Amino acid sequence: MAHYAVRESPPLRGEIPISTSKNAVLPIMCGALLTGGDVRIEKAPDLTDVRTLTALLRSCGCGVKREKDALIFNAESVNGAGDEESARRMRASVLILGPLLSRLGQARIALPGGCAIGQRPIDQHLKGMSALGAKIRMDHGGVTLTGHLRGATIYLDMPSVGATENLLMAATLAKGTTRIENAAKEPEVVDLANFLSAMGAHISGAGTSTITIEGVSSLHGVSWTPIEDRVEAGTMACACAITGGELLLRGARAEHLRSLLFKLSESGVHIKDTPTGLMVFGRAKQPFEIRTMVYPGFPTDLQAPMMAVACRTPGTSVFLETIFENRFMHAAELMRLGAHIRVENRVAVVEGTPQLTGAHVRATDLRAGAALILAGLCAEGETIVDDAGGHIDRGYDRIEEKLSAVGGLVRRIERTA
Ligand code: EPZ
Repeated sequence: MAHYAVRESPPLRGEIPISTSKNAVLPIMCGALLTGGDVRIEKAPDLTDVRTLTALLRSCGCGVKREKDALIFNAESVNGAGDEESARRMRASVLILGPLLSRLGQARIALPGGCAIGQRPIDQHLKGMSALGAKIRMDHGGVTLTGHLRGATIYLDMPSVGATENLLMAATLAKGTTRIENAAKEPEVVDLANFLSAMGAHISGAGTSTITIEGVSSLHGVSWTPIEDRVEAGTMACACAITGGELLLRGARAEHLRSLLFKLSESGVHIKDTPTGLMVFGRAKQPFEIRTMVYPGFPTDLQAPMMAVACRTPGTSVFLETIFENRFMHAAELMRLGAHIRVENRVAVVEGTPQLTGAHVRATDLRAGAALILAGLCAEGETIVDDAGGHIDRGYDRIEEKLSAVGGLVRRIERTA
């Protein structure tokens, strides 16, 4: 647990290395359960969520060891049940269901709780597993799935990222053909499909609304480097838009961030795509309107960082959060820094102000915590971002080091438990 002391900072200048994507690494780690061979994930970021999922996979009998910046998995002797404590701590734990069920014919996890941003149900995951032939039993706060899977056509009521990933993994070893209709198209889904194909799965259509999987009898081990973290890259681009300056986001790919880059360009920030990464320079000068949508729409995970940008951008910016029912908790904390924000259900209206002033604020969730650090970079005096919940470490690998290296006045202060 830590908190962050942030001071008003000069324009950020320099280069920030972008880590591999948390939201690509987590499903790929679960995909390692589909084979008895070694799976090596290169450049695995050292995040709390990765450690939590590692503990859960070990509790299923999967061997996991870290070799420098790689994680090596061996699931030769897995069992079908995951540790309930770890499962409750992280929503992505639901992603072990598909691989275990498909490989062993049974799987059980504690129902992953909701979280600060929403109730986070898993009905689409279970609807799809049932279509593939699974019997589902809910009891004692957990869900047990049994059955040998066979291909089916599944229609998702909404293009859920996690449900698409879970069902994609389950279908790789199911007998016959599976079609997932209204599938999510996020780059992390495509990366998972590419990883599974490298293991010998037969998948087509990833990145479109319809994914087709021909089941195979087994999958083999593989070494894989997941894609870059587009949300970390977007967060750092927002930091530049707040302080001005010039950043090279090494490893960031414009193709994965087009909606954010368009919004930043509309606001007056300059973006240049280069072979080594994204160049971002200049401050946001014009207000903007953001509607969060499934990919390729504006990503909900960058709504909070962009709200921090809006707080200091002259004019009226408007946010409509269509994905999660409770993802404006950072607004109240930003208002403690002097921001002018009105929230009405899923709409937030931000009046840019020329000056924010430092205060003690609280990280309510992962992306909200990052947004508060960004706001502190342009708030007079000192801002203390209290992250007693350890949210920021779940998804950002050394955010304070990366911002400090380009001139951000951010210090991490460990809190004793
Ligand atoms: C993934 O969560 C990401 N997490 C989230 O990132 C991201 O915000 C989200 O996708 C949307 O892009 C990981 O990849 C580990 P969903 P996921 O299923 O899969 C509802 C971050 O900050 N829904 O696409 O849980 C759900 O309640 C995190 O890195 C159902 O109703 O997202 C939500 O309102 C936060 N039933 C919406 O769909 C279901 O069965 C989108 O959820 C599943 C989802």
